[in-house]
Amino acid sequence: MGISEETVVAVILVGGPTKGTRFRPLSLNIPKPLFPLAGQPMVHHPISACRRIPNLAHIYLIGFYEEREFAIYVSSISNELRIPVRYLKEDRPHGSAGGLYNFRDLIMEENPSHIFLLNCDVCCSFPLPEMLEAHKRYGGVGTLLVIKVNPELASEFGELVADPVTNELLHYTEKPETFVSDRINCGVYVFTPDIFTAIQGVSTQRKDRANLRRMSSFEALQSATRSLPSDFVRLDQDILSPLAGKKQLFTYETMDFWEQIKTPAMSLKCSALYLAQFRLTSPHLLASGDGTKSATIIGDVYIHPSAKVHPTAKIGPNVSISANARIGPGVRLINCIILDGVEVKENGVVIHAIVGWKSSIGKWSRVQAGGDHNAKLGITILGEAVNVEDEVVVVNSIVLPNKTLNVSVQEEIIL
Ligand code: GDD
Repeated sequence: MGISEETVVAVILVGGPTKGTRFRPLSLNIPKPLFPLAGQPMVHHPISACRRIPNLAHIYLIGFYEEREFAIYVSSISNELRIPVRYLKEDRPHGSAGGLYNFRDLIMEENPSHIFLLNCDVCCSFPLPEMLEAHKRYGGVGTLLVIKVNPELASEFGELVADPVTNELLHYTEKPETFVSDRINCGVYVFTPDIFTAIQGVSTQRKDRANLRRMSSFEALQSATRSLPSDFVRLDQDILSPLAGKKQLFTYETMDFWEQIKTPAMSLKCSALYLAQFRLTSPHLLASGDGTKSATIIGDVYIHPSAKVHPTAKIGPNVSISANARIGPGVRLINCIILDGVEVKENGVVIHAIVGWKSSIGKWSRVQAGGDHNAKLGITILGEAVNVEDEVVVVNSIVLPNKTLNVSVQEEIIL
């Protein structure tokens, strides 16, 4: 087999501004895929995992955000990886498979033998080379990354049944109401180019049905609300479900960590997972706290080189401090994300919280929460440019941008 036949491309689905609404108020300021986890944009983690794919020719991000929102990141990461990374903008949402199909000519330009497709909003160790090897052994159209989860949580995802010996995907149901299986779809796939034929098949079927409906006005009335545009194709419902049990799709189970990132609370949890992974993959990114002049560091902590942290501050575990933040004397930070330009003044405390860009936390103030990732107000979130005055306590609350708090609040959403 020639080298050109082995070329691989990776596609990362980043969605758009009408998706990710559960990520508010943070998504008011930044596209969710660029929100920093462990100090790096969310999309950076799957992108850097792609570096391990042999013969990777190109990485495409497909979404319906404005191109300019990704321009700076895309050009800096292309230079850093020395692999072309390109953002492709859909004029409107086409669904997870429709988005891929929309750019099929471009994706096929390098004549890839395999195409990785990754959801941007999942956090895992992305065992991509291992998946590719397994996929080649199986010989199907596609291989999905799967994981075993707590059965009570399985219905939030695509549930599936696979053959325990051959790993063939036998049955697939997207977010079913009744329990099917505790094995779920992780949103990480590798396909051969035949996937485009499968997507085209769904699209053509839709067109045919729409034409039939046009002929029958009664049926048109009945199904008008159910019909989707022919070029809107969902990977899960429209492709995985019908192809299951046809010896075309296979599964690769990960025993490592996996989470989905739909809410700010989950981004805090995933930031911890990625910091822990840095211990193994990029320990140089973690703060060491060595030397008498540096702050006390506990566990996994990321501090941007431009941030200023007072030597008497105590930081960690699971803390990420972004560019130009200033952390004053006696400050205590635990399980939090401190975004660009934030100031935490002397003896301030931040626990189980995300502090938005350019916010300020006054002397002896506390911004904290119980830390339950699944509760509505389980972490405290301050939007951009929130000013918490001295000696104010903010507990289990969400504060929208540009507010000043001069009294303490608990369990509140401040609009
Ligand atoms: N470009 C583009 N265009 N991206 C899209 C579109 C679209 O029209 N629609 C969704 N996406 C992206 C989202 O940004 C996300 O990265 C991914 O596709 C999947 O999003 P959804 O279709 O909203 O599905 P989900 O996240 O609720 O669930 C999917 O992922 C789970 C794993 O995280 C399903 O495939 C589940 O089965 C799976 O368990």
